Amino acid sequence: MTDTKAWDTYSKQKPERRPTNAVGETTWFNWTQYPDHGPGVELLGIGPGAAVLDLGCGKGGNLAHCATLGAHAVGLDVSLAQLRAADTRWGDVDGMVLRRGDAVQLLADTTEDFDAVYSVFGAVWFSDPNELLPIIRKRLRPGGVLAFSQRPAIEGCYGCQASYINRSEDEDPLVVKRWDYEPERWMEILAEHGFTEASARVLPAPPGPRKIGTLLVRADG
Ligand SMILES: C[S@@+](CC[C@H](N)C(=O)[O-])C[C@H]1O[C@@H](n2cnc3c(N)ncnc32)[C@H](O)[C@@H]1O
Repeated sequence: MTDTKAWDTYSKQKPERRPTNAVGETTWFNWTQYPDHGPGVELLGIGPGAAVLDLGCGKGGNLAHCATLGAHAVGLDVSLAQLRAADTRWGDVDGMVLRRGDAVQLLADTTEDFDAVYSVFGAVWFSDPNELLPIIRKRLRPGGVLAFSQRPAIEGCYGCQASYINRSEDEDPLVVKRWDYEPERWMEILAEHGFTEASARVLPAPPGPRKIGTLLVRADG
């Protein structure tokens, strides 16, 4: 079971999205840890009426963008603090639905099907792929897409890793588990779970002092 306290703590530290992006849009899709960087929602291939699922939607910025495009946009998150922030900022956007719970458990319990499932530094990173991928695949419609992004693996550190969420100097950090693999291994794992046409790559960081890129993965269900 996912540690909700850790993610509620993270929520307090993480600012919400800016009011507008660099080109003045009020909603947009961002796959990377850098503002105004990388591809957009086109990776999902969705149009109006599509059913879209965000696993670990956080404060809901990407989900709201999908909803403004006319999608039925469902966001799952284990953290009540994150969902409250999403509801406060985006609660009046038509077509957006928020659900609280662990991604593996909620997906195992639902019968709803989706045209696209995505996760931006979200529950796909923080769940065992051997548990999560089979139930995502069950819920993807024919021709559906799974796409996710996260920080790339550190060389030699593969599989389940510890992620620390810092607190005050007097408190130990909270720990959540994440799963890291090289792009080639992600493609193998996806194929092992029946996904086809998987592609995985590390998108370089934008010019500037920071050098860590973004792992970007896309597969057909
Ligand atoms: C690093 S944040 C990213 C949030 C958002 N996708 C974004 O780009 O800002 C990770 C999010 O995933 C959620 N999360 C982590 N593990 C989860 C799980 N197993 N099920 C559902 N949500 C989860 C956390 O609560 C948190 O909101």
